[in-house]
Amino acid sequence: MARAKISIIGAGKVGSTLAQLLAYKELGDIVLWNRTAGKAQGVALDIEESALIEQFDLKIKGTGDYSDIKDSDVVIITAGVPRKEGMSREDLLAVNAEVIKSTCAQVKRYAPNCVLIVMTNPLDSMVYLAKKVTGFPKNRVVGQAGVLDSSRFSYFVATELGRAVEQVSSVVLGGHGDFMVPLPRYTSVAGIPVTELMQKKKIDALVARTRDAGAEIIKLEKDSSAFYAPDYSLVRMVESILKDKKMILPCAAYLDGEYGIKGIFMGVPVVLGAKGAEKIVELELNKGEKRLLMESAAKVKDSLKQLM
Ligand code: LAC
Repeated sequence: MARAKISIIGAGKVGSTLAQLLAYKELGDIVLWNRTAGKAQGVALDIEESALIEQFDLKIKGTGDYSDIKDSDVVIITAGVPRKEGMSREDLLAVNAEVIKSTCAQVKRYAPNCVLIVMTNPLDSMVYLAKKVTGFPKNRVVGQAGVLDSSRFSYFVATELGRAVEQVSSVVLGGHGDFMVPLPRYTSVAGIPVTELMQKKKIDALVARTRDAGAEIIKLEKDSSAFYAPDYSLVRMVESILKDKKMILPCAAYLDGEYGIKGIFMGVPVVLGAKGAEKIVELELNKGEKRLLMESAAKVKDSLKQLM
């Protein structure tokens, strides 16, 4: 069987760390594209030179030539400007829209059958734009955000309770912004609902911290936004797609009436398999949760209006 081909657009911190993590997972050969080819080539070579020690066997090609992404199975777009301290993800809208437009035209040309994953912020608008430019069917375009947001929420819950993070399961819905919707009712520790383990006030504080978690990292680092947790989240998505695992993961997916929302991308639980976003899972939401999700959808729509 031919090896899978994974292309990463952008060899900044997000893209290069992603190449490293994907190499260790041996999910397929990797192409790392960057505007300045030398940067991508250097990173690719550096990772390849660790192959003996880490014992992985695959090719990593650094390039500045889009034709190298030809016939990729999965393409991940990390290119774009990251936010700085004091900026919201929305502040990146205009500049990153141009990056997405030019990149997606090339993806359409060279990898017309790929599953496309977008990482660039503001996530929900950028993934919408990616679908528009490529014209790909809705199952083949998704955004990475919910895996990260729920990983953060789970981590905060585990730390607060002094329990193993691997036994925490959580769901975060909505746009990847200040209006994301962590769902405590769907968060559990070894199957025990977190609502039975923690006071509401404490849960609310962890929900707020999850919403601000991206900004918390920037505030500490000053010159960088997060990339380790976002990249690990992406690896999980790629693995579910290439191994056709059909994991249910929160991702930005195109809503066509699910949750009563139509015509936008937003974070919802998605079955990720070989065909991409194969199915959106509709959770039963109570009134309060529905209201929060609608507010989040309204914010995503506002952002889209500025773009169109
Ligand atoms: C974050 C940025 C990457 O949430 O959106 O850290």
